[in-house]
Amino acid sequence: MKQQSIRLFIVATILFVFGLKNASAADNNLIENLLSQMTLEEKLGQMTLYSSGEDPLVPVFNPSYKQEIKEGRCGAIFASITPDSIRYLQELAMQSRLKIPMLFGYDVIHGYKTIFPIPLAQAASFNLDLIRKSAQVAATEASSRGINWFFGPMIDIARDARWGRVSEGAGEDPFLTSKVAVEMIKGYQGENLSERNNVAACAKHFAAYGAPIGGKDYNTVIMSLQELNDVYLAPHKAAADAQVASFMSAFNEINGMPCSANRELLTDILQKQWKYKGFVVTDFATIREFMNHGIAENEEQCAQLAIQAGVSMDMESGIYKAKYVENQLKSKSIDIEKIDEAVRRILTIKYRMGLFADPFKYCNSKTNELMTANNLTTAREIARESMVLLKNDKQTLPIKSDIRKIALIGPLADNQADMLGTWIAQGDTSDVVTLLQGLKKQLGTSAQVEYAQGCDIDTKRTSMFNKAIALAKKSDVIVVVLGEKGDMAGEAASRGNINLPGVQTALLKALYATKKPVILVLMNGRPLALEEEMNYCDAILEAWQPGTIAGDAIADVLLGKYNPSGKLPVTFPRCVGQVPIFYAAKSTGRPSDAKVRYSSRYLDIPFTPLFPFGFGLSYTTFEYSELSVSHPEIGLNDEITIQVKVKNSGKIAGQEVVQLYLKDDIGQLTRPVRELKGFQKIQLNAGESKVVTFTLKPSVDLIYTHADGTQNADAGKFTVFVGGNSDANLLHSFRVK
Ligand code: NOJ
Repeated sequence: MKQQSIRLFIVATILFVFGLKNASAADNNLIENLLSQMTLEEKLGQMTLYSSGEDPLVPVFNPSYKQEIKEGRCGAIFASITPDSIRYLQELAMQSRLKIPMLFGYDVIHGYKTIFPIPLAQAASFNLDLIRKSAQVAATEASSRGINWFFGPMIDIARDARWGRVSEGAGEDPFLTSKVAVEMIKGYQGENLSERNNVAACAKHFAAYGAPIGGKDYNTVIMSLQELNDVYLAPHKAAADAQVASFMSAFNEINGMPCSANRELLTDILQKQWKYKGFVVTDFATIREFMNHGIAENEEQCAQLAIQAGVSMDMESGIYKAKYVENQLKSKSIDIEKIDEAVRRILTIKYRMGLFADPFKYCNSKTNELMTANNLTTAREIARESMVLLKNDKQTLPIKSDIRKIALIGPLADNQADMLGTWIAQGDTSDVVTLLQGLKKQLGTSAQVEYAQGCDIDTKRTSMFNKAIALAKKSDVIVVVLGEKGDMAGEAASRGNINLPGVQTALLKALYATKKPVILVLMNGRPLALEEEMNYCDAILEAWQPGTIAGDAIADVLLGKYNPSGKLPVTFPRCVGQVPIFYAAKSTGRPSDAKVRYSSRYLDIPFTPLFPFGFGLSYTTFEYSELSVSHPEIGLNDEITIQVKVKNSGKIAGQEVVQLYLKDDIGQLTRPVRELKGFQKIQLNAGESKVVTFTLKPSVDLIYTHADGTQNADAGKFTVFVGGNSDANLLHSFRVK
């Protein structure tokens, strides 16, 4: 016994001394050594995550958790958020036999204290540098307050606007989402996980959680192998390649198998095919939910299915327990290798984070990292870059400098509570700058801004209309701010209707009837159906849920201090009957044609979206010309260069997101009508032109999942389309031998 403690002490000391280095072969031996000292209970402990629920420093904190931590039966805690409570819990872990430090996870999805625009909005910026920078800020802020693991990035593809969690990801496109995923992971994890400002990331939700039937959260997913691989798994593959520290297995089933019991997904694809070395944590209690899914009869069976599938860590089911596992180990329905592998992966990440070297490295709380001037500047930059100008008749925007009276109307015009969106971590709504505040600050005495609420977001009350209309009548321009409540998108926030809720459209209509110019500013967490609203305004700015500095950033755009450059990362439908709708659809044997009855279409609504993916206007205009390809024909392993000239043909400087789409004209399987394969955000002064170059390599960029499951490129003709949105019509073709 004494000898064993000495051995353990030596192992712990070596781990402590060498902890700052990345795990190498020698380091792996240390982990193996530690693993060999662990009892079954301690191993299962590392595989268990509890939610702290309440502050562990207050007496009501579940006393059994404290005991379990002290006995090494808990490896991670979620939502313990004060540095003091995190230190306290880590101290308990240090009292355990093997002194293995715990992870402290938290849902930091778009900022910790400084809240950035919702992820969907960030994607609309198409500015990967800014996305990475905002992720870095979130990591710096949260890690200064004890958090060392983020439950993000959320990289689910979402093509159904009813699904509330469309707000948490980068939209409908696997190429864009993959790029965003990698930048977020780089921002969170940095170059080296062990640096104090970096945190471990968790790519979620693995997998296909964004495709529930009917857009209803948690619902069943039924999907072809091609769609799963090429669309829904693609961003996860990119995350694995970027060495994300962990994945979160999703709530949903795919084709009959819940993700946390899905051996093909968690072991065959993730571990074997992708050679992923990090660990998998489940989503909240998904293991226990096997009983609701109807694939397990009891907790014992739940544990068996999850362990054998390859889940490393259980979130909150409390089911990874020796009492459930011991007998199954004896009967060989659970392999001890599966448990060892899970623990090895968790320990390796903890080790790479430098937690063995200093379990308290994140606990030396620093408040001066929060909401710094630089952080707020980054938030303002990305917020304004994420806004999408959807309509601008008669150049209503930007608001001209000779305008004297602005009527600012709407339930979101001076509303701190609803501008942060879902998952606001430690963001404080009282820190939010509203549009009323932002406009007043920037306009000073040069113009008068008067405000009337006009209506609520989601009640039927019209009693405030008259005051708003009276204000509108005596103003030069009306800015009306409508949209969704902050919690109308996000988890468990699916909507059957995707219109503006309540009487907001009626208010807009009444304001438009005053014949004053109407600028509609939208704040929402999903694509909305805006066909009716298009008739009752002169301009529309999609501002999403812009975060802490919302009002400053919107004012920058409205007043022309920033020329909008955002592009839609999701298709905007005309009405809910069109969803799911996305640009990378198949042509079908009967391509949609409004004039042909027996074509793929609706009798009562159009098949075209209101705004296509990639769409967004600017205060200037851009012209595309001289599209060329470097070779008429290339081999599979060659590269082809595509060039296009882009000119700012307007009167002011602006940024344009130059987009490259591709169509595999004749595939072995049917292929999407076009797929995004490249984008570049460029800045052009008025009158300036630039030649933009893209490079494609068939063996990388043209591959897709064939019927036998392999990923190859077809030979034959391909067409490229280049322009400012997914309807781009400048095209050229080439052949692959
Ligand atoms: C459930 C959500 O699906 C997931 O995204 C989140 O990380 C966990 N709850 C923990 O809050």
